[in-house]
Amino acid sequence: MRLDKFLSDMAFGSRKEVKVLLKSKAVEVNGHVEKDPKQHVDPDKDTVTVNGEPVVYQEFIYLMLHKPPGVVSATEDTRDPTVIDLLGPTEQHFKPFPVGRLDKDTEGLLLLTNDGKLAHELLSPKKDVGKRYYAQINGVVTEEDSEAFKRGVTLDDGYETKPAELTILKSDDISEIELVITEGKFHQVKRMFESRGKRVTYLKRLSMGKLKLDPELKIGHYRPLTEEEFASLRPAKQ
Ligand code: URA
Repeated sequence: MRLDKFLSDMAFGSRKEVKVLLKSKAVEVNGHVEKDPKQHVDPDKDTVTVNGEPVVYQEFIYLMLHKPPGVVSATEDTRDPTVIDLLGPTEQHFKPFPVGRLDKDTEGLLLLTNDGKLAHELLSPKKDVGKRYYAQINGVVTEEDSEAFKRGVTLDDGYETKPAELTILKSDDISEIELVITEGKFHQVKRMFESRGKRVTYLKRLSMGKLKLDPELKIGHYRPLTEEEFASLRPAKQ
């Protein structure tokens, strides 16, 4: 690929801006100053540096976001801030999008990527990717609820949910639970509890497949996936 495309793709500015950068002699290819925007580089073989810093070419971005409440899981919105607004310009340059949706008031794990193929695999209902949620519930959650969720419940629009695994952490007027579902219907967890006459008052996603929310990742913050986390997402390894 052309050197100017390489640098532009890696967020060093528009082709015009990259031209100026090249003129300033800031860019080296395999240890030699390169000023020609048309110079061919092979991202797998050539070493490109800008001001002495190596630039590793990457096409895809994979970010773990600890979604805070109050932002919507979309790339654009006319009313509310989006999860993309939480990212810096370098990450935004890759045009990531959220893999699936969390409600505006839901917190927790959200994967952001520009890898449409992976997103499709993770969201495909056929792949049965388990999503684990922690929730606080207004009402006493009981073993009957666990049994009902295991069998499947009927949502307000008549949809029958697939078997889900409920763990009761605290059964009280305000109960605490963890629930694993393999689907992602609109407001699914909230509507599943509504079908049992109970209301979700707090919802946080803890994991998606083998990808777990990093407990060290502060709310509203994000980081790239580690190699291990990335590998764990590939369907063959699930
Ligand atoms: N279920 C819900 O009800 N809301 C979410 O954000 C995710 C799952």
